[in-house]
Amino acid sequence: MRLKGQTAVVTGIGAGIGEAIALRFAEEGARQVLVDINKANGERTLAKVRDAGGEAQFVTADISKDEDARQIAQSAIDYFGHIDILVNNAADFTQIGIEAAKLEDWQRVFGVNVFGTALVCKYVVPHMKERRRGSIVNVGSMSGIIAQRDFATYSSSKGAIQTLTRCMALDYAPFNIRVNTVCPGCILTSASYREIERLGLTFEQWRDQVAPGHMLNRLGEPREAANAVLFLASDESSFITATDLMVDGGYIAH
Ligand SMILES: NC(=O)c1ccc[n+]([C@@H]2O[C@H](COP(=O)([O-])OP(=O)(O)OC[C@H]3O[C@@H](n4cnc5c(N)ncnc54)[C@H](O)[C@@H]3O)[C@@H](O)[C@H]2O)c1
Repeated sequence: MRLKGQTAVVTGIGAGIGEAIALRFAEEGARQVLVDINKANGERTLAKVRDAGGEAQFVTADISKDEDARQIAQSAIDYFGHIDILVNNAADFTQIGIEAAKLEDWQRVFGVNVFGTALVCKYVVPHMKERRRGSIVNVGSMSGIIAQRDFATYSSSKGAIQTLTRCMALDYAPFNIRVNTVCPGCILTSASYREIERLGLTFEQWRDQVAPGHMLNRLGEPREAANAVLFLASDESSFITATDLMVDGGYIAH
């Protein structure tokens, strides 16, 4: 029960890694405000969390909208009175190279991944500052570090998240608020299946292309990324801030 008595806000919980974080946090006793733009998927995760004995509320919100971001923080305060943990996991997966990308593509991917993350932080941080306590975990990607062909839009947004993490870690260290990034390698989620469809490959063809890039020669599971988020969110990582934790099966060192 590593998160007993703690309140967490987790975005992008309707699928994949976010759903795994919500379930993992429930196992560890957190009270949660779960956020997703997709109401049906968000309510499905909420039901799973409650079935597992977790205490949670669901908020439908688009993190790229200022009013929605403000509402996320306010809902957490209204439901539970304080916020100990924020996990910025929701993301847009627009992956396009420089020549093909239109302004709207940049606006969409940065709107969610960078501006959305920053907006939710903007409204949550004052509540953490008041109590001089908080842990923020931003979900980046190995794509923020390595170059992948025709990925400029997404990769640069993920690189920006790592920089945002370091800037926030410095600004809020005096308030005992830690800020870190988890950088997954390839984790099998709904995003993977969208990518397989986009590339016109079978699952096996795609897996055989992608898995060997990881030293461990396999794809990661959502729960493996969630475990890293749990560590950085919890007090077990109390002297860790401004860091990037790779959960990439050794990909970037390969
Ligand atoms: N799957 C991977 O291989 C992989 C690798 C590296 C990093 N990541 C990162 O992990 C995180 C989760 O990825 P995933 O694979 O689980 O994705 P996913 O597409 O399976 O789930 C993302 C969730 O975020 C929600 N969402 C999207 N835009 C939103 C918005 N504007 N407001 C609120 N919710 C929104 C979606 O509805 C969805 O439920 C992302 O930050 C992603 O960049 C994933």
